[in-house]
Amino acid sequence: MTAAGAAGSPAGWAAGLSRWTAGARRVAVLTGAGISTDSGISDFRGPSGLWTQDPAAEKMSTYQVYVSDPAVRLRSWQARLSHPIWTAEPNPAHLALARLTRSPVGTTVITQNIDGLHQRAGTPAGCVLELHGTMYQVVCVGCGRRSEMAGALARVRAGEADPSCTGCGGILKSATVMFGQQLDATVLARAIAAAEAADLFLAIGSTLIVEPAASLCAVAVRAGARLIIINRDPTPYDKLATAVISEPIGEVVPELVDQLLAVRRELGQAAGEEPRLADPAS
Ligand SMILES: NC(=O)c1ccc[n+]([C@@H]2O[C@H](COP(=O)([O-])OP(=O)(O)OC[C@H]3O[C@@H](n4cnc5c(N)ncnc54)[C@H](O)[C@@H]3O)[C@@H](O)[C@H]2O)c1
Ligand SMILES: [Zn+2]
Repeated sequence: MTAAGAAGSPAGWAAGLSRWTAGARRVAVLTGAGISTDSGISDFRGPSGLWTQDPAAEKMSTYQVYVSDPAVRLRSWQARLSHPIWTAEPNPAHLALARLTRSPVGTTVITQNIDGLHQRAGTPAGCVLELHGTMYQVVCVGCGRRSEMAGALARVRAGEADPSCTGCGGILKSATVMFGQQLDATVLARAIAAAEAADLFLAIGSTLIVEPAASLCAVAVRAGARLIIINRDPTPYDKLATAVISEPIGEVVPELVDQLLAVRRELGQAAGEEPRLADPAS
């Protein structure tokens, strides 16, 4: 369904793409857990999401609970050991966005995800803003020292149930932003700047209820961007959107990216630019 109510059917959204992407030169993309479900990483609030199935699991993502309850930390380290992130592969939606970031369409990917799949799909690290941090590192809550997750997991495997900081003995956690923690101010400022500079803002696979990430949609629209939301469930920002596409992300995003690249090629040809050689990774 669109704000105008037309994109519910596959034919509806496919027909609308050229209109919604027309003239787009700067794109900002916000991705949530829904872009990685096709890679085998469950979301939290979707119909088969981890918190939908087990509401108590949400506590494990709360900073105060994590630092004050050793039992929660033991569970968290065991969950990290067998996390699906370590075996997940990027899916067609990650790969399509990677093609966009390597094209002449100026693109910033702002992600709520902690799974590193945008970078593994080929999006240059400099084009990804990880609003909620990364699972690939750990951080000490005492001295702030960061180190690789792989090293901490090796210690857990070797028998340390709750490994502590080798510098100060403090509690270690994944370098992700838990409930009760602030986002990195620099990363957030860069995300706001990207949203303000965009003429097209894509929100993909997020329930858009975690702030301040979700409000980037409003920032972009206020600054004049078109907003396209691609998510199975309704979101609080649907009413601001030019289009809401509630179809599978793996089908919609590659097509949308193809459309943006086609539009950019036409703009380039109209401006007399040399056609670029096909990207070997695309
Ligand atoms: N992969 C990850 O890194 C990961 C996974 C789970 C949660 N998280 C964290 O949890 C927080 C909350 O997550 P969120 O708000 O991003 O997501 P969410 O779990 O709250 O919601 C995901 C949304 O995506 C939709 N969705 C799932 N698969 C889809 C598909 N194939 N096609 C269309 N729609 C689909 C769901 O219906 C749901 O509305 C995030 O901030 C993130 O930090 C990260
Ligand atoms: Zn420390």
